[in-house]
Amino acid sequence: RPLSRRQALLLGGLGVAGTAAGGVGLVWTLAGRDAPVPGSSPVQPNQESSSAGQLQVELEAAPALVQLAGRQVSALAYNGSVPGPTLRLRAGDTLKIRLVNNLDQVTNLHLHGLHVSPEGNADNVFVPVEPGRAFDYEYRLPADHPPGVYWYHPHHHGTVADQLFAGLCGAIIVEDPVPVEASAERILVVTDTAVDSAGTISAVSPMERMMGREGGLVLVNGQSNPQFSARPGQRERWRIVNACVARYLRLRLDGQQLQLLGIDFGGPQDPEAVEELLLAPGNRADLLVTAQPGNAVLRAYRYNRGSMPGMMGPGFGQRAPQEVPDSIALATLQVSGEPAAPPAAAVAPQGLGDLRQSVVAAHRQLTMAMGMGMGGFTINGREFDAARTDTVVTAGSVEEWTIVNASPMDHPFHLHVWPMQVIEEGGREAGTPRWRDVVNVPANGRVKVRVAFEDFRGRSVYHCHILDHEDLGMMGVIDVR
Ligand code: C2O
Ligand code: CU
Repeated sequence: RPLSRRQALLLGGLGVAGTAAGGVGLVWTLAGRDAPVPGSSPVQPNQESSSAGQLQVELEAAPALVQLAGRQVSALAYNGSVPGPTLRLRAGDTLKIRLVNNLDQVTNLHLHGLHVSPEGNADNVFVPVEPGRAFDYEYRLPADHPPGVYWYHPHHHGTVADQLFAGLCGAIIVEDPVPVEASAERILVVTDTAVDSAGTISAVSPMERMMGREGGLVLVNGQSNPQFSARPGQRERWRIVNACVARYLRLRLDGQQLQLLGIDFGGPQDPEAVEELLLAPGNRADLLVTAQPGNAVLRAYRYNRGSMPGMMGPGFGQRAPQEVPDSIALATLQVSGEPAAPPAAAVAPQGLGDLRQSVVAAHRQLTMAMGMGMGGFTINGREFDAARTDTVVTAGSVEEWTIVNASPMDHPFHLHVWPMQVIEEGGREAGTPRWRDVVNVPANGRVKVRVAFEDFRGRSVYHCHILDHEDLGMMGVIDVR
């Protein structure tokens, strides 16, 4: 297919580096900017799928004019679209990403939730990629990598929230070993942003950073309330990413039941019927939706995540409760036509294990706190410092962490690389093993998790996934040795 001028320029510029990096030559997939993948719906992001155990893609981070909810917006985008392409992988695959930084600022790339090495050229958040430079990431997924929906976004401390708010994110799917029967699979990347009258992304105030910014423009795949259609009785797979900087999504589908396969680590498990589902920033949901006649609207209902210390009353960001809409329509499923034959019922369950009986090598407490003014966003009393190591863990051990929230605002706690099993939440033991890579710790609450520090060693991070809080310092360094 013909290359655009920009693609040709990029190829020219990358030839030397590509060969030097490993002698592989130029076999990069240029993530499609023009033609949607055949068969994918126009409201779905483009997809790049691995074959023969490998996926090579180029992600160019650059300013781009994109259509967001029908408006022309000067955003930052991967390969010119918000969200960027969906990367589809299988356990055991090798993923090679050339990140080309055509922003005017430092960036880098983090594959959120993937169980891959934090070292070297893999998921290394300590590597800065300077403007005008490219960086070759190489990730190897273990053969038993959990299936599910993951995502990618920049991770250069101090700029993460700004870059995500401007549009830099995309979804990753790790395929199920045994596919779940569904008539359609929908990827729903939820972002929010704020755009001024000139079509530029609005700057945020210091107070909005401290609260965690919420943009008034809430989008699914860059669109406002996209419409899907299905026939009655059809079962669809919905895979939702909360890629908002700070907005919690309290989701309902018009009172219809959702069948929850999993949060974060999805994949086939015994589906659980739920009316409502809370996705903190960074969380993903893997759902089955059975189409009932009529229209079903997926809505995000308002959720009170608390306020700053010393501020009065319930907190909805900086807005009074009456200014916050009761709900926002995210997407609509239009159901009509001939009823479809019901799907084969079975979803082959695939457990992710259970650490409740394992020997715990260490108990730790991590306390997230915030104060007014500078220097108040801490974990165990300290702001992030890339040069310091806060937590040293023995490779191969299982640890139990109590995550304490010593503030009147919720904080979603995220640990890179190693999945967390929630042991205790809201003062009660979790009934079934629930795995997360982001676990919400409610205002003045606590959560207990267990983590098996398996497979990978090296330095990585844990942090609040209200990414303004992470940028302000609510992040610590872990070293697994
Ligand atoms: Cu989704 Cu450390 O991030
Ligand atoms: Cu926070």
